[in-house]
Amino acid sequence: MSVVFDEKKNYFHLFTENTEYVIGILYGKYPLNLYYGKKNADPDIRYHRRYYAFCPFYDENGEIFSLDTVSSEIPCFGSGDLRCTALRIKNNDGNSVTLVKYKSYRIFGGREKIPGLPYAEADDRTDTLELILEDTVSGAEIHLYYTVFERTDVISRYVRIVNNGEYPFDIEKLMPLALDLDGRDFDWISLYGSHSNERNVQRVPIHLGSQRVFSRRGYSSAQFNPFVCVCEHKASEDKGDTYGFNFVYSGNFLSEIEQGQEEKTRILIGLGDENFAWRLEAGEEFRSPEAVMTFTDKGIGQMSRNFHKFTRNHILPKPKKNYRSVVLNTWEGSSFDIEEKTMLEFAIEAKKCGIDMLVMDDGWFGRRNNDKSSLGDWFVNKEKFPQGLKSFVKTIKSTGIEFGIWIEPEMVNPDSDLFRAHPDWVIEVPGREHNLSRNQLVLDFSNPDVTAYLKDIFTKTLGDVPFDYIKWDCNRHLADVGSNYLPKNRQKETAYRHMLGVYDLLSWFRKTFPDAVIETCSGGGSRYDLGMMKYGEMIWTSDMTEPNCRTYIQYGSMLPYPGATMSCHVSDPNGDKYEMDYRFSVAIGGMLGYEFNILTVPEEIKEMIPKQIAEYKIYEPLITNGDFYRLVNPDKTGCSSYYYVNDDNSQILLSFIQTTSCKLKNRKFKLKIIRADKNAEYIDRRTGKTYSGSLLREGIEKTVKDKYFADIMYLTKK
Ligand code: DGJ
Repeated sequence: MSVVFDEKKNYFHLFTENTEYVIGILYGKYPLNLYYGKKNADPDIRYHRRYYAFCPFYDENGEIFSLDTVSSEIPCFGSGDLRCTALRIKNNDGNSVTLVKYKSYRIFGGREKIPGLPYAEADDRTDTLELILEDTVSGAEIHLYYTVFERTDVISRYVRIVNNGEYPFDIEKLMPLALDLDGRDFDWISLYGSHSNERNVQRVPIHLGSQRVFSRRGYSSAQFNPFVCVCEHKASEDKGDTYGFNFVYSGNFLSEIEQGQEEKTRILIGLGDENFAWRLEAGEEFRSPEAVMTFTDKGIGQMSRNFHKFTRNHILPKPKKNYRSVVLNTWEGSSFDIEEKTMLEFAIEAKKCGIDMLVMDDGWFGRRNNDKSSLGDWFVNKEKFPQGLKSFVKTIKSTGIEFGIWIEPEMVNPDSDLFRAHPDWVIEVPGREHNLSRNQLVLDFSNPDVTAYLKDIFTKTLGDVPFDYIKWDCNRHLADVGSNYLPKNRQKETAYRHMLGVYDLLSWFRKTFPDAVIETCSGGGSRYDLGMMKYGEMIWTSDMTEPNCRTYIQYGSMLPYPGATMSCHVSDPNGDKYEMDYRFSVAIGGMLGYEFNILTVPEEIKEMIPKQIAEYKIYEPLITNGDFYRLVNPDKTGCSSYYYVNDDNSQILLSFIQTTSCKLKNRKFKLKIIRADKNAEYIDRRTGKTYSGSLLREGIEKTVKDKYFADIMYLTKK
């Protein structure tokens, strides 16, 4: 068991392979965090009494106890903890003062499911602690779940709230993960960006006051990502105390950090309180999404590897086959210009090049010839496909290639049969003009009629079509958030309920088309999160396919997420072979695909594809499942370097990319492969050169050149 209760002290110990988390129940009432850090470190685990004047306090058996200074497992609003808080419930008296106290606990093997939401799957070394607390005024019973994923050093947390009272109440703020670290001397790392410029890395010292990343956009967004990391100032890739946090959710979020009068740093991860509230009637229950955390004293690189392994083992769908298909996506090559004949020609050419799958992106349904119409009209365009979709897909597959199809189920164009029939099915608020974005509106998935309609139309259109892959797109954020379906006192539930509807439809797709792989996408990487990863094998990393910018995007994406989740396509190199090679070297950071007009690309470029694919297929198991080590940060140098290594260190894929933004003339980099075995000899299969393991550990030298370049080494033990 990785959860142990010490009855004498009233302490719960949660153990992963390398970490320990300790909760104490003070005065039998208050669940406090007493320790989170290295296992077997012999820490001083006890409650440190602190008091500052002006802090509200209780007299507990003659001792002063202030909620304002302790590390509460679920800090509550308004009842004495005057820092940022994790739970705020507006009770039937109309105030939002909340206070929960300990009732009982339960320890069990495995985990509690979270119906309707994505969550991490248990394995044979997963155990859960459930703490049951209550707020006697509102009647809320609060269940805190701590699930321990022992092998990956990850602990997840989620909250179930039951209304055991007589009256309804409103959950106004809910952050399933709350943690107070001792001390203030930390940096925090977060990911920010915009469309085509996703997941840039920001690392700054944490300062007094509040700092937060968030989404109010309905989806997790490219603007900020729910992932945050908190580490010692001196933490590097391979040294230093490092904590990682993330949220298994794809909608609005808040990742909040606060420092105040105390030598402490509070971290909260959850739903926040902007455009979220949930009315809970007597007898009803509410479940939050799950948040996750990891700790390592071995630096930021190990934090990434913990999360990568966790995502591969507990979040991503189980692989359907032992390889990832290399796709040719039609978007950059033919945009909305989709029709049977060209698609067949694409398939024949793709097959000749060794490509596994053709993905027909947009333009195949309704009257869709541009982005102004037809979203919502998920029936095949008979002018483009006179024989229908099934016969077309069969013909494509007779060329020996797999087939993928693009959909964007959450959206509707005002110019569509669906909108004309059901104008009230969109997210909107009374009296306000529609905000369009890419000429589209968002369907209100809080309304079950909407998702039922989509299940029906997709069954009719795709039910008998032998496709192998779905690209699920989502090209705008939410504005004017309101639902025609929900009553007035539930309007603030719209965005959350919408997300539950999205998950419901995604689960339906997985069940209805069990053999299809799902690639999710939101104009590229605007919804790159653990929630989406539960339903889709990979995510279209970015609409930016230009390799220099991509290098930065992929670098940031891999701080929390494994390479197995990143779709990376080689786009048109404009006839330049050097460039084609460079694009390939960048794309093999993740799951390789191609995205250009294969009918017009010059012959000498086309000739390179089969060789590239054959090479990639050798590396693919390493990229999908290997341990990832970052060596050079492009933000600082304009160069990027990393390697993947397998479990027994017998295979290493080393990548060095000098982007066009590198200005460090003649600068030398030493790429140290610390996972190389000292006593082994390695051979670079690309050049045939031999290297001793000790030399690889000391570092391979790369010198900055006059022109951008990429150098890949595939080292295997002799
Ligand atoms: C945005 C996506 O990111 C692109 O790859 C493509 O699928 C288009 N949408 C299609 O409209």
